[in-house]
Amino acid sequence: MENRDVVMMGLGYIGLPTAALIAKSGSTVHGVDVNPHIVETINRGEIHIVEPSLDKEVSNAVDKGLLKAALEPVSADTYLIVVPTPFKGKNEPDISFVEAATKAIIPLLKEGDLYIIESTSPIGTTDKMKDLICNHRPELRDKIFIAYCPERVLPGNVMYELVHNDRVIGGIDDKSTEKAVEFYSKYVKGALHKTNARTAEMCKLVENSSRDVQIAFANELSLICDKADVDVWELIDLANKHPRVNILKPGCGVGGHCIAVDPYFIVSDYPLESKIIGAAREINNYKSFWCAEKIQNAKLKFQLENGRKPKIAIMGLAFKPDIDDLRESPAKYIAQKVLQNANNEEFFIVEPNIESHTIYKLTNYKEAIENADIIAYLVAHKEFKKLKPKEDKVILDFCGIGVV
Ligand SMILES: NC(=O)c1ccc[n+]([C@@H]2O[C@H](COP(=O)([O-])OP(=O)(O)OC[C@H]3O[C@@H](n4cnc5c(N)ncnc54)[C@H](O)[C@@H]3O)[C@@H](O)[C@H]2O)c1
Repeated sequence: MENRDVVMMGLGYIGLPTAALIAKSGSTVHGVDVNPHIVETINRGEIHIVEPSLDKEVSNAVDKGLLKAALEPVSADTYLIVVPTPFKGKNEPDISFVEAATKAIIPLLKEGDLYIIESTSPIGTTDKMKDLICNHRPELRDKIFIAYCPERVLPGNVMYELVHNDRVIGGIDDKSTEKAVEFYSKYVKGALHKTNARTAEMCKLVENSSRDVQIAFANELSLICDKADVDVWELIDLANKHPRVNILKPGCGVGGHCIAVDPYFIVSDYPLESKIIGAAREINNYKSFWCAEKIQNAKLKFQLENGRKPKIAIMGLAFKPDIDDLRESPAKYIAQKVLQNANNEEFFIVEPNIESHTIYKLTNYKEAIENADIIAYLVAHKEFKKLKPKEDKVILDFCGIGVV
């Protein structure tokens, strides 16, 4: 039976770049995804996501036979679980993908193998997966190595950060931590910090909760400033002149697969203790609702003043500038909300980082800026910063397009 060095379960935004880098370090990688389109694309040496220089790395690894993709796993020495961990119901973490991926590899595990979860996971998930594995294969108890190592890369800079970022590595016991550190040391140049699995799991959640809380502070300031008639961008710039103050920039909410999701993994399990973390989520969600209301009000005001319906440009759908990722995007939520309230107005939906969208007909950004009466900037994409709209337009700048 074929034995590869590494099986990568999940070939998405994190799994595929990681698989390509491991292959680049000389290991044989068998990538697994449940999506046949992804498997076929990778086996052609192509990629299904936008990430700088990933195409080159994948095509090289596939050409050399170091990276193969398939729908099913094969036997390997190391198994990495990099599948989605969304939430379900009332913002409760859904670890069913991690469970499904783990179940798929349980029959293949052998003594001495290393099993690592990289998916962002609620505290205790690694212990749960250890129990799942040992219940199915009791003979492997204490005979395999199990660890958790979260990913903290920035989309758009993944190939660099995968190598250079520090990693936090927590095993279910010291032997597992050591084994996982040995594995990562083959392709990571950043420092490898050893801890236990629960601390490593919580570390990832806390990193993103910290960002969420800080952004919530900036978003809360933007709401206060709007009422107080103070320019929030000038205010933050001035406050940050203090040597120990560093306020982040407000935006139209918080999105993405990490910052908008991970704090709920703490709030859901520790609701009484996580007051600030929970409030930050509410503030950041409210900011998106507020932006949609602002567009709605601008629309009515325009109609009243001009006696005709305005043409409205919704600038950006991605969850942050210069990427094609729309997951949990506040801009997408705002676009949806504004369109639900549409009353025969003409809308231009703009997202320069994607070619087409299943729901929205997309308009080129130049055309939208030229033709719209109201321009609502939701995402500070670089294209938008280059083009200054004519003076007569109504500008709703939720992301500081004119200043950042
Ligand atoms: N994208 C990021 O910037 C980022 C950063 C840090 C951490 N993370 C975390 O990493 C994990 C993966 O995120 P992602 O962005 O790569 O997700 P993704 O959705 O881009 O990719 C996950 C892939 O897993 C596949 N998959 C689902 N179930 C599977 C199964 N049972 N077996 C094999 N493949 C399966 C999906 O088809 C998908 O292609 C998540 O827990 C996420 O929170 C993501």
